[in-house]
Order: sequence, then structure tokens, then C-alpha cells
Amino acid sequence: MIQVDHLTKEYGGLRAIDDISLEFPKGQVTALVGPNGSGKTTLIKCILGLTHPTSGTITVADQQINGGWEYRKLIGYMPQIARFPDNLTVRDVLGLVQGVRGRAERPVNALADIFNLNGDRKKRMSALSGGTRQKVAAMIAAMFDPPIYILDEPTAGLDPISSGAMKEFIRSRRTEGRTVLLTSHIVSDIESLADRIVFLLDGHLMFTGTPDELKARTDRDSLEAAIPQLIQERSR
Ligand SMILES: Nc1ncnc2c1ncn2[C@@H]1O[C@H](COP(=O)(O)OP(=O)(O)O)[C@@H](O)[C@H]1O
Ligand SMILES: [Mg+2]
Repeated sequence: MIQVDHLTKEYGGLRAIDDISLEFPKGQVTALVGPNGSGKTTLIKCILGLTHPTSGTITVADQQINGGWEYRKLIGYMPQIARFPDNLTVRDVLGLVQGVRGRAERPVNALADIFNLNGDRKKRMSALSGGTRQKVAAMIAAMFDPPIYILDEPTAGLDPISSGAMKEFIRSRRTEGRTVLLTSHIVSDIESLADRIVFLLDGHLMFTGTPDELKARTDRDSLEAAIPQLIQERSR
């Protein structure tokens, strides 16, 4: 669904992404993993067209993106820190988004039920907890029923019930055959959600494969142990 070919992104002299080629297939949840500064957000920004690659190509649904915008309708994006106008209510924000993009294709009431947001819809954004704002961001990503979801730390900071709802939501999208790309530092969430792991370090693609393949490759029996092992391999 998303194909990345020999992608390189430099900021000044720094290579944030160094010649990466990989694919994000349909019907799978791919976790983008790596320590801070490894290039995860840069890769996501390149896919969203928010920054231009230094070299290489990205193809979304068989179309090379090349500075175009139309393809972005195919992507539901949930940023790590979503910013909303503070004085608007949740209902206003959801209305505003539909004013710009057209009527939601997934019923907003059903989404609010999934994330248990119905009681908050009359509240101003400034009155919401961080986790509740995150759930509003997830609702917006899902409203237009996109074939591709890009979720930056979707479960970080959520209480256990909300986190469970978010994971269930992500699994349902996979079952529908959507492409899901997420980042997470929470190993148990990666373990329970990811079909594939893409591991970046210093802009290099260190590993791509299933969680079991990662354990086998590092000769460790948990992801918790396998991930630091990969990082050590690089520093040798
Ligand atoms: N706009 C920018 N200008 C200069 N350097 C940047 C910019 N964005 C990211 N970087 C650098 O690129 C590298 C990768 O950053 P990033 O993609 O944000 O990593 P991650 O999301 O994995 O934490 C880091 O060294 C970071 O400092
Ligand atoms: Mg980041």
C-alpha cells in the first residue's frame, strides 16, 4: 500500500533517513520502532508530504507522491501531539473538520462510543485531559474511513480502558484490510498489535520482519530483550 524506495532525507549535513527501502502492506499493523532521533517522525513526514525527501521515492496506492496532495485523502493521521483551538468544544472541532473535508463516512456517534467520548462532546478542548484530546485526534483520523492509518504513539498516556479501546480499534481496522503504521515505545503494545516491526536507528533500517523473526535474529525470547540487543549490534 505504501512503498518507500531508496529514501534519503538530509537536514543540513545530517542524514535523518539514510537510503531506506521498505513496504507497508495492506491488512497489517506495522510498528515503526527505534530510539529518539532515529528518524521515525521524519519518515512519517515524508509519507505525509510534510517534508520533501532529499532523494528516493514514495508510492502510495500505486501513485508516486511527487509533491501531490490528493493521495493524502487516503491517509488518516493521528499526530503524537494534536493541537486544537482551545476555545472550541469537541463538537465544534468535529463539525469544523467535516466542514473542510465533507461529511464523515464513519458515523461520529459510533466512533465516540468506541472511545467513550460521548460525555465530553460539549466540553471545550482546553478543558480536556491529554488522553481525551488524543482520543479526539483518533476520531478525526478515523472519520473519513481511510484505507491507511498513520498513528504516532496512539496509546501513550491513555488510561488502561482507553488504551484497550484504542488497541481494539486498531485491530478492527486491520481486520478490515486497512494499512496501519504506528509508532510506539510501549513494548507490550508492540507485542500485542504489530504484525511487522520496522526498526530504525540513526536513519538506518536495522530490521524489518515479524516480532518472532526479530527474537530469532537477536536470539532473545522477548521483544523487551530483543530491541536493546539490536541497538547494541549497531554500536559494535
Ligand atoms: N526540521 C529538522 N531540522 C533539523 N534536524 C531535524 C529536523 N527534524 C528532525 N531532525 C533531526 O533528524 C533526526 C531524526 O529525527 P526524528 O525523525 O524526529 O526522530 P524520531 O522521530 O525517531 O525521534 C534527529 O537527529 C533530529 O534531530
Ligand atoms: Mg518522533
